[in-house]
Amino acid sequence: MRGFVVSVPVADLDVASDVLWQLGVRAIEERHSSAADVVELWTAVGDHDDAIARADAALGARWQWRVVEVSEAAADTWREFARPMWVDDALVVVPAWQEHRFADGVAVIAIEPGGAFGLGDHPTTSLSLRAARRHLAAGRTVLDVGCGTGVIAVTAAVVVGASVRAVDIASAAVEATRDNALRNDVAALVDVDTTSAGGLDGSYDLVVANILAPTLVQLADDLRRLTAVDGHLVISGILADRHDHVVAALAPMTVERTDTLDGWAAVTLRH
Ligand SMILES: C[S@@+](CC[C@H](N)C(=O)[O-])C[C@H]1O[C@@H](n2cnc3c(N)ncnc32)[C@H](O)[C@@H]1O
Repeated sequence: MRGFVVSVPVADLDVASDVLWQLGVRAIEERHSSAADVVELWTAVGDHDDAIARADAALGARWQWRVVEVSEAAADTWREFARPMWVDDALVVVPAWQEHRFADGVAVIAIEPGGAFGLGDHPTTSLSLRAARRHLAAGRTVLDVGCGTGVIAVTAAVVVGASVRAVDIASAAVEATRDNALRNDVAALVDVDTTSAGGLDGSYDLVVANILAPTLVQLADDLRRLTAVDGHLVISGILADRHDHVVAALAPMTVERTDTLDGWAAVTLRH
């Protein structure tokens, strides 16, 4: 399996980690490097060439990085630490390889990340899920832009039987979303591929996009167009104290609500 190692100054640790999460890596390990004040971030991306190609654009100019072979076992040590993530009292996302028992009436979404991002436990994912949950209702259509493992798309399909369109630029994410839809018995409800947001037609009652701020700004016109007149747009992947420019790019949509967790925000907007 392939991965990459990114050497970053300690001061860049948070921003570099965010860029890696956005690339769709499933785990990041910090290791000391021989140089003072520099940390190595080790990640695994499976054998998907598109992740490596996108890494060059995202990391190349800012930090030194190299592609390495990583053993499957080493890349998977994070699995034993994965834990269920409660969206609310009646909805929980669990790692697919763990056995858990929950009370009757609790909806359980089992997620296997494969080579994609989103087990449900990252603050931006839980914020997005909680914000989306408020607007899920039978008969509503949902669009998940940057679906990663499909955790949001699959949850929408399971919870209210929503018909969900999901897209991601990473082929590993499309594969993971298909597998997770099957695993949770909603494959017929989740339509996923690598169509760009600009290539999508129509409008959706709920649009969710958990992607870093610069990409949200680039996609703003499409996200606004794809949100139904009386629908909602949930954006996350943005910092709690630095997202005014993203909201401004989405004008004249207005903010209905902002939720924050661990320095991250999810903003719910409407026309
Ligand atoms: C932070 S992950 C979110 C995954 C999942 N939706 C979640 O909430 O856990 C961001 C995802 O957006 C995808 N992505 C990045 N830029 C994109 C773009 N322009 N269009 C569609 N997907 C994009 C990445 O491949 C990655 O899977």
